[in-house]
Amino acid sequence: MCGIVGYIGNKIASEVILDGLKRLEYRGYDSSGIATIEEKNLKISRAVGKIKNLETVIKNEEYSGTAGVGHIRWATHGKPSEENAHPHTDCNKKIVVVHNGIIENYRQLKHELISEGHKFLSETDTEIIVHLIEKHFSGDILSAVKSAVKQLKGAYALGVISLDNPDVLIGVRYDAPLVVGIGDNEYFIASDIPAVLSYTKRFIFLEDGDIVELKRDGYKIFDSKDNICQRKVNTIEWDSLMAEKAGYKHFMLKEIFEQPQTIEDTFRGRIGVEDISDFFDELNINTEIIKNINRISIVACGTSYHAGLIGRFLFESISGLPTETDIGSEFRYRDLIIDNKTLLIAISQSGETADTIAPMREAKKYGAKTLSICNVMGSTITRESDATLYTRCGPEIGVASTKAFTGQLTAIYLLALYFGIVKGKISKEFSVKFIDSLIKIPRDIVNILNKEQEIKTIAKKFFKKSDFLYLGRGLNYPIALEGALKLKEISYIHAEGYPAGEMKHGPIALIDENLPVVCIATEGKVYEKILSNIEEVKAREGIVISIAVEGDELIKAKSDHVIYIPKTEEFLYPILNIIPLQLLAYHIGVLRGCDVDQPRNLAKSVTVE
Ligand code: AGP
Repeated sequence: MCGIVGYIGNKIASEVILDGLKRLEYRGYDSSGIATIEEKNLKISRAVGKIKNLETVIKNEEYSGTAGVGHIRWATHGKPSEENAHPHTDCNKKIVVVHNGIIENYRQLKHELISEGHKFLSETDTEIIVHLIEKHFSGDILSAVKSAVKQLKGAYALGVISLDNPDVLIGVRYDAPLVVGIGDNEYFIASDIPAVLSYTKRFIFLEDGDIVELKRDGYKIFDSKDNICQRKVNTIEWDSLMAEKAGYKHFMLKEIFEQPQTIEDTFRGRIGVEDISDFFDELNINTEIIKNINRISIVACGTSYHAGLIGRFLFESISGLPTETDIGSEFRYRDLIIDNKTLLIAISQSGETADTIAPMREAKKYGAKTLSICNVMGSTITRESDATLYTRCGPEIGVASTKAFTGQLTAIYLLALYFGIVKGKISKEFSVKFIDSLIKIPRDIVNILNKEQEIKTIAKKFFKKSDFLYLGRGLNYPIALEGALKLKEISYIHAEGYPAGEMKHGPIALIDENLPVVCIATEGKVYEKILSNIEEVKAREGIVISIAVEGDELIKAKSDHVIYIPKTEEFLYPILNIIPLQLLAYHIGVLRGCDVDQPRNLAKSVTVE
């Protein structure tokens, strides 16, 4: 996700915008930029890296303009660089655009615009927007923007200014957040409230399809049917830190609730209704290389390792490729049996984990092709791997990984389908059915998130416990591991994830009336087996908290507590099953008074061995 700020009024725009960008740094920080309308020209400054680098550039410049836009970037298309930093301008450098979101049809539009003579300077999807506005511009920036956005597919929150319309600031919202701040003869647009909360507490939340025209003496809002409309003016009473968390108590909770959006952003533009093969020109591993691969080796750490364990099931079941998954710190010291027919997949949210980088470097020495699944564009792992499939989750601030995990699973689903199609392992029918279920996952997660209070009630019953056991089988065994990791790292309770079938080989000795046992019992080929494991726990007085599919009365009869999730494809249950476990861990951590965003002894990215 990126951050946008726009201003028009009587203050020095660069000061207001820079201040706003600093307050949006939690949304992205690989580059930033600002553009203002000065006397006779547009003044534009951009910088790679943190916002302080832009501040350094600006303080050496003279800015007096009172209208402008700014942007802080979390790269999704085009590496972090000054050329790719927003704002972007048209060929004549008279129109400026800043954008948050993903334009799905940018390749086709870019091709058309280049054939019409437009010159592009960046690798971003955003730049096509400003050239499209230029194409439609005939003196009035509002009508040019209205015409241009009709051609866009995807998600976009835009800020637009034009030298030929110096008294106008335009904002556009479609499937990416944009708020309007209402001041006294001054107006603001921003991706999020914190950016301008210090200037006003009055906000309009634009709706999808809204276009707002802001002038110093007033504003007009046009809805998706181009009718002038009124939107409610809300008064926000948050302080600025609360606002950065969008009113959530912790970043971790905010990030849990962002998952419907971040999952959709990760598959957006990468799946068609029929299949996903057209997405893969983004992934510079061509079909010949995939056909030549005869095995996959996945390396990762922590939560990313758990995603890798699910990847192993999916690459074997859907793609027909023998796959092994290793913890990075173990893999790097094994006597590796790897060759140029091995695809090494490194999974990492940060892209800077030393225990994942080292094995990837080692595997390259043996000729392996390397593919990274990563959330941070331009990070070490992405620079050193042959190809990268980016998750699009925006910065993950909470140390406990949540949205990055489900973003990684989404990326793995896409890859498994792609490999399965290239290897001829799956039918068109399977692909269409799977994609149809995958597209519904964001809505299914909203359904689960609506049960937060129910999960909080369970947390209240068990937050004083000293031990937890998490059981799962097959695809849900890695979810048992991940649920246990979430709990232990933020509540400091000893929690262990175990393959349910292994209970009788030892852990069953732990079961008594004091031990909560979380059982992941969604339908699938091992459902009957997990049922009998639940009975084994109950027979020894254990407390059973089950995750089950809506309507499953059998599990309810055998459990002390059940958290229901919507029905979906068996392969997709892991991405749903983890949601209640994230919330359970979060609420137990809060009830125990732990610092859930920055747990003791932990760092967000472990860049040392
Ligand atoms: C997960 O909640 C932890 N924060 C930790 O296990 C993390 O997943 C691990 O350090 C790997 O980090 P990476 O994904 O950035 O490589």
